[in-house]
Amino acid sequence: MVKVHLTPLFLLTILSGVELLRPKVLYVREGEMVVLHCHLEADDSGLFWTIPSGQRMNQTSDTSTSADQSQMSVLIHGQSLVVLQTSMSHHGNYSCSLGNASSQIWFRLTVYTAQSSEYKEKNQYPATCFTQEPCTLYCPAANIPCTNISGISSRGITWSKEGETSLSQSHFPSVQQNDSGVYTCNRSYTYKGQTYYKTFAVVLNVQTNEQLGESMILSPKQNQEFQVDLGSTVVIDCKAVVTSEADEVFWLSGTSFVEKDDSLPVFYNYSWEQGAKDIETTASLIFKKVSEDDLLRNYTCKLQSDHQSSTFVTIVLTPKARDLSVIICIVGIIVVVLVASAVFKFRIDLALFLRDTLGCYGTPPDGKKYDACLMFYKSSSGVELGKADRKWLEGVLEERFGYSLCLLSENFSEDNGMEV
Ligand SMILES: *[C@@H]1O[C@H](CO)[C@@H](O)[C@H](O)[C@H]1NC(C)=O
Ligand SMILES: *[C@@H]1O[C@H](CO)[C@@H](O)[C@H](O)[C@H]1NC(C)=O
Ligand SMILES: *[C@@H]1O[C@H](CO)[C@@H](O)[C@H](O)[C@H]1NC(C)=O
Ligand SMILES: *[C@@H]1O[C@H](CO)[C@@H](O)[C@H](O)[C@H]1NC(C)=O
Ligand SMILES: *[C@@H]1O[C@H](CO)[C@@H](O)[C@H](O)[C@H]1NC(C)=O
Ligand SMILES: *[C@@H]1O[C@H](CO)[C@@H](O)[C@H](O)[C@H]1NC(C)=O
Ligand SMILES: *[C@@H]1O[C@H](CO)[C@@H](O)[C@H](O)[C@H]1NC(C)=O
Ligand SMILES: *[C@@H]1O[C@H](CO)[C@@H](O)[C@H](O)[C@H]1NC(C)=O
Repeated sequence: MVKVHLTPLFLLTILSGVELLRPKVLYVREGEMVVLHCHLEADDSGLFWTIPSGQRMNQTSDTSTSADQSQMSVLIHGQSLVVLQTSMSHHGNYSCSLGNASSQIWFRLTVYTAQSSEYKEKNQYPATCFTQEPCTLYCPAANIPCTNISGISSRGITWSKEGETSLSQSHFPSVQQNDSGVYTCNRSYTYKGQTYYKTFAVVLNVQTNEQLGESMILSPKQNQEFQVDLGSTVVIDCKAVVTSEADEVFWLSGTSFVEKDDSLPVFYNYSWEQGAKDIETTASLIFKKVSEDDLLRNYTCKLQSDHQSSTFVTIVLTPKARDLSVIICIVGIIVVVLVASAVFKFRIDLALFLRDTLGCYGTPPDGKKYDACLMFYKSSSGVELGKADRKWLEGVLEERFGYSLCLLSENFSEDNGMEV
């Protein structure tokens, strides 16, 4: 059974026992061959055709002597009706039916004059190729004889280009923009010594590769630094947009290729996603455990293309931990220097502060506690305190100001100077 739309007409024909299908519309140019293929599930014997004159035809019908113009050069073979050389009289409605009329297929054949521009438009098939690439034109195969129609043999296809007199090729090893244009393929056949043919127009549009957008690396940036911890796993994504499947994005380590093999300590993997206009790709460089050795190398993400010059970005890895320790070291040294100079500058205040708050007074050799000790030494300048001066000083300090003094007697002599 053939699938059809459930129109009221269809339901009506189901009810009346005859299946009516949507007519097939065919166009043909005067003088050319056309084949109507009937696809009814039946053996060929019960099949008959109704042609525009209203006459019924089956496989045994002899049309060669027919007086009816529309029957001339019509051939029925199996499930196909072949019009070997179309004339205006072949224009009209055709149907194929089974003998018991349970199924029927309709055809509407429109015949155009050889010069018809309307036919030219309907008979055009587009083809697109790209400059500098190989290009092959294919001849369409609509409404032509099946190769197994007995008695009809194909003589092959010839190609010609509109505006040129000589025959054309259908394969271009490296197509040029000036190869664009309308090509006609001519399929020709022989039947009982006569030649028949059908033509198709193929419109070739050769596009330059520049009409493609530009492929480029989006990230990382050239000379970008990646701070890493030694021993950690690091993944660096190289993101690019490419306009052709032939474009490749991959990683280099120095000047050698990074492999995709994930059993290696450093490898890369690749994924892509089809965007509206281009393809978004990601090549991820993966370090399973960053080593010292990895830090010494430059890594390059390269975009290699057939239709534009290659581009690349180089990145470097820098150790995160070492940077921090250098800073800590410098800060530590500064702090130590500041503390040391502060301690030196305020050492007396500090000593007094500690004495006052912690009560750690110094104890002189005789075990008694004093406010001050007086020590005497011999002066080299000759200017020194006499015995009377020393007594006077002791008296003033002890009696007037209330200090308790210790006098270091072992250094005490008539000739000694004195210092407080
Ligand atoms: C073909 O049609 C003729 C009458 O035109 C009829 O005698 C003949 O039996 C038909 N043959 C088949 C196979 O239906
Ligand atoms: C042509 O041969 C194919 C099988 O090769 C067959 O399915 C088809 O029905 C045949 N067509 C005709 C018109 O005999
Ligand atoms: C073909 O049949 C359609 C209806 O299916 C009719 O409108 C049209 O006029 C017919 N064409 C010819 C040439 O008889
Ligand atoms: C018509 O014939 C086909 C086989 O040729 C058969 O399958 C179908 O049932 C028949 N239909 C009617 C209504 O007799
Ligand atoms: C097409 O252009 C190429 C150069 O681009 C030239 O060599 C060739 O002759 C041209 N062909 C025609 C048919 O003009
Ligand atoms: C197609 O080829 C045949 C046989 O070679 C020839 O007779 C016929 O004129 C050609 N048709 C066109 C439109 O070139
Ligand atoms: C690439 O490998 C990384 C790390 O093994 C993983 O996270 C990521 O999903 C992989 N990507 C693809 C596309 O396989
Ligand atoms: C890494 O690249 C820089 C320039 O980007 C270059 O000066 C340096 O020599 C390269 N180092 C190695 C190990 O290739």
